Amino acid sequence: MHIGSFLENKSVEKRLAITPEIAKKYISLGFKLSLPIGYGAHLGFDDKEYKNLGVELFNNEKDIIDNSEIIIQLGLPDDEKLSLFKENQTLVGSLNAISNSEKLNNLKKKKINCFSLELLPRITRAQSMDILSSQANLAGYKAVIEAFQVYEKAIPMMMTAAGTIPAAKVLVVGAGVAGLQAIATAKRMGAIVFATDVRMASKEQVESLGGKFLTVEGAENLETEGGYAKEATEDFKKKQEELLSETLKKIDIIICTALIPGKEAPKIIKEDMFKNLQKGSIIYDLAAIQGGNTVFTEVNKTVEKDGVKILGEANILNKLPVSASNLYAKNVFNFISNLYDKENKKLNINLEDEIIEKTLVK
Ligand code: NAI
Repeated sequence: MHIGSFLENKSVEKRLAITPEIAKKYISLGFKLSLPIGYGAHLGFDDKEYKNLGVELFNNEKDIIDNSEIIIQLGLPDDEKLSLFKENQTLVGSLNAISNSEKLNNLKKKKINCFSLELLPRITRAQSMDILSSQANLAGYKAVIEAFQVYEKAIPMMMTAAGTIPAAKVLVVGAGVAGLQAIATAKRMGAIVFATDVRMASKEQVESLGGKFLTVEGAENLETEGGYAKEATEDFKKKQEELLSETLKKIDIIICTALIPGKEAPKIIKEDMFKNLQKGSIIYDLAAIQGGNTVFTEVNKTVEKDGVKILGEANILNKLPVSASNLYAKNVFNFISNLYDKENKKLNINLEDEIIEKTLVK
């Protein structure tokens, strides 16, 4: 079978779906690969590297699409490229099935199979394919690095002959995948870390990383059976607001990661909470693209409010595209391996397999 991939719009997406390491794995499974000339050049992956592995390089995307039964991308391709797809082809990527439902429906009508990997169930067998976890993990790490870089004071406590610099205090809002990595990273760099979440299971995880968990007293556990957050009740929101308002007085840096799947991000840092923050504090809002966890967050902008900087990056993974591509490409390879019937050399879209059933756009 033939697999192809073409370049994303590099101004918004620098990641790649097929790295040379993973190209080698596809080829050893028996696939043939088609990529455009210069596919990985911006990440330091030369054409020669791909060519030496046996990848066929093309001048234009139409030839790649014509040549491939499976197309692997990061996001949903633009309309022009989608119009080149044909019946029985398979498209795999982080296609954003909910917000792109109309376009994906049109592809389905053309009998093109679309697998949207952000729909993967969070079950043990799917862990090696879990693009949300692998990418959010890197995002949590990088958000801390970026926030620390903008912060104008030192992070760890330093005792010098000229005096003592206190350790920076970091608050992580939302202790899911990105949040836990943010806690670990901030701790490693010497910060004192606090965290809050609506899921009680996260308390133990936060504490095991050396963070202090801020428990909203008397709150019920807002967790679904699938391990995701439920929307907080008004009572919870009020108690959380009181608790955070008090805590913010001593916080220097806030990393926001709170999210309820399929919903707009909860507004947790409200306007009147800003007066409690010290001037020079930094808020790094990873939930910016879903509306942000603060009322002032704007996508891809640094907003300044009462001396506090709020940074909202749409795609922080563009700041470490090599690591992000390495993990993404591996996740997709594991997904394709599960979908591929080696004996008959074809894809086996077995809807009894929960991984396949949940990710296939229907
Ligand atoms: P996740 O679902 O694993 O974690 C979100 C956490 O927020 C959960 O633990 C949930 O319980 C918690 N939460 C929900 N409502 C809350 C509330 N009211 N108060 C406190 N906590 C609450 O999500 P993940 O994968 O860690 O992603 C976190 C965020 O980072 C998402 O918004 C995601 O889209 C974003 N992200 C952004 C990237 C970027 O480039 N900007 C890249 C990767 C992820």
